[in-house]
Amino acid sequence: MALTIQPTASTLGATITDVDLATLDECGWRDVENAFNEYALLIFPGQALSESAQISFAKRFGEIEVLDKNTLTVPLTNKGADGKLLADDTFRMKLLAGNEGWHTDSSYMPLSAKASVLSAHVVPSSGGQTEWADSRAAYDKLDETRKDQVQDLTAYHSYFYSQAKLGHEVEVGAGYGFFEGDPPLRPLVKVHPETGRSALYIGRHAGRIAGMDDDLAEKLLSELMTFICQPPRTYTHTWERGDIAVWDNRCLLHRARPYDHREERVMMHTRIKGDPATELALNA
Ligand SMILES: [Fe+2]
Repeated sequence: MALTIQPTASTLGATITDVDLATLDECGWRDVENAFNEYALLIFPGQALSESAQISFAKRFGEIEVLDKNTLTVPLTNKGADGKLLADDTFRMKLLAGNEGWHTDSSYMPLSAKASVLSAHVVPSSGGQTEWADSRAAYDKLDETRKDQVQDLTAYHSYFYSQAKLGHEVEVGAGYGFFEGDPPLRPLVKVHPETGRSALYIGRHAGRIAGMDDDLAEKLLSELMTFICQPPRTYTHTWERGDIAVWDNRCLLHRARPYDHREERVMMHTRIKGDPATELALNA
């Protein structure tokens, strides 16, 4: 049976049903891949995939980006190893708080991410949604003056920078993502390698713009972020246990929404590497 693709009312995203990702055949994969390139965010309700099935699904999109050398699928959770809920002033919770700012995954690494997979295992009674914003549709709607202004600009992306803006000063060697070399330099306008569409490639990890005064850069990036992240270019998913989503980091921003940290939330995340031909930083 052919899978059912229901686009959202936003410029991005579709919900896919009538498919079992654990037994996806080549024909089904082609449909999923085509939908991924068109909608950039796919949500599959109620799949309840095992960890190994999630990894197999993620590998369809490319090589896994190893965030933790012990596992290909990392938990994003407020639950500690001892089973107790973590305090907000712990390192992990400060990183999760950072995820509530609009960003694209691994833009702070020399090779940025192609895609991310996220599945819901324990969801709070309210809040904790994930929200995406369409930076392709935003680029399309820029006026010509703005397009000319951003066309040749490049920005430095750094996880140290984005956490510091929240008051979280992170030391070198703190863990994955805190890249110790020069911050990766990336064009503000990214051309999608599959679709050829241009997108604004910024987010909270983008700080300084090469050759521009820092205050002017911050103002420009802030204006562009505001422009990207508004309807009809945003979509919010309220998770139910068993849902799984995959999105395209090359043309979308995303953020987590707040929830009451006295409740448990467990999401499982797998990240897919970008292609060095198109996702390597200019200064890598
Ligand atoms: Fe993220």
